[in-house]
Amino acid sequence: MKRILITGAAGFVGYHLASRLSVDATNQLTLVDNFVRGREDTDFATLLQHSNVTAVRADLTQPSAFEELGDGFDEVYHLAAIIGVSNVMERPYDVVRVNGLSVLHLLDWFRKGGGRKLLFSSTSEAYAWTQHFYPLPIPTPEDVPIALTEVRNPRSSYAGSKIFGELAVTHACISAGKPFVILRYHNVYGPRMGFEHVIPQLFERALTGQNPLVVYSANHRRAFCYIADAVDATIAAMQTEAADGETFNVGNENAEVTIGELAKMILTHVETQPEVEAQPAAHDPIIRRSPDISKARRVLGFMPATTLEEGLAKTIAWYRTRLLQAV
Ligand SMILES: NC(=O)c1ccc[n+]([C@@H]2O[C@H](COP(=O)([O-])OP(=O)(O)OC[C@H]3O[C@@H](n4cnc5c(N)ncnc54)[C@H](O)[C@@H]3O)[C@@H](O)[C@H]2O)c1
Repeated sequence: MKRILITGAAGFVGYHLASRLSVDATNQLTLVDNFVRGREDTDFATLLQHSNVTAVRADLTQPSAFEELGDGFDEVYHLAAIIGVSNVMERPYDVVRVNGLSVLHLLDWFRKGGGRKLLFSSTSEAYAWTQHFYPLPIPTPEDVPIALTEVRNPRSSYAGSKIFGELAVTHACISAGKPFVILRYHNVYGPRMGFEHVIPQLFERALTGQNPLVVYSANHRRAFCYIADAVDATIAAMQTEAADGETFNVGNENAEVTIGELAKMILTHVETQPEVEAQPAAHDPIIRRSPDISKARRVLGFMPATTLEEGLAKTIAWYRTRLLQAV
């Protein structure tokens, strides 16, 4: 029996990771969340019906939360965080506080025997400001220097908290002689990712007949990675010994499109055919972002298998059902 802890498991990535791992009856899963953003919906309730899955409601900014979990987990996936543009712009201190405290408390517990190996979820945002101010190769490999913009910019809160998390995990684990791995997820998408994301937002507005369809950041290029592929990489990173102590980009450089092109792909799934009205970015000055995933291919055997067309079709089918139920 393998004991696995997933923090932030009611959220998007955590839920899909837990669903995949729950299929193996030799995995004993403990799913922790405080449900500030994660959802106690029917999908999560269905996941909890597996006899090898237990949910714990806990606020990981409290050190006692970890003590109450017990210790001796074989695998610890730390996905809990405050994320999302509106949180980052409106509550930057909460972003810094929750993401900072939760990783520090986790590390204090982990180093004392809480778990054997730790996976930390970081982000493509770690590159955002270096890309903005300095010439970086795009697709971007993991070993480039990392910079922030001025500290007063609320957008620094999320990138800064994740860079801090990478530092804390790296040095806590090296000094304790414990295996860890860091993943920088790039624009992961799929069913049940919430509604604060460009794909469900564009789809909902197109479905409800907005005309013209307003598309912000239409000229920005992003590489979208389907959730099933991100879960493949996540599990491989945990299970591959050669990944210990390393940082990996997780994304799909073959699925890079402009947001305007993405909108046109989404429009192939609706009957209404509105005009597309391109608008400038509201908060995001980063024109192009794409991961170099050659290291993940080499070490983890990571092969993103889902094309953007296939992933969008699955995602939109899920959202279509939920949006029509809500009417
Ligand atoms: N989805 C992506 O494309 C993406 C990209 C880059 C990085 N990431 C990282 O991957 C991780 C998972 O992302 P996601 O998209 O699933 O986010 P999410 O918001 O869907 O999930 C995060 C979960 O953490 C929980 N949480 C927040 N504060 C908590 C606390 N104090 N105690 C306990 N639980 C708490 C939330 O309720 C939520 O369920 C995050 O760390 C995020 O930074 C995701």
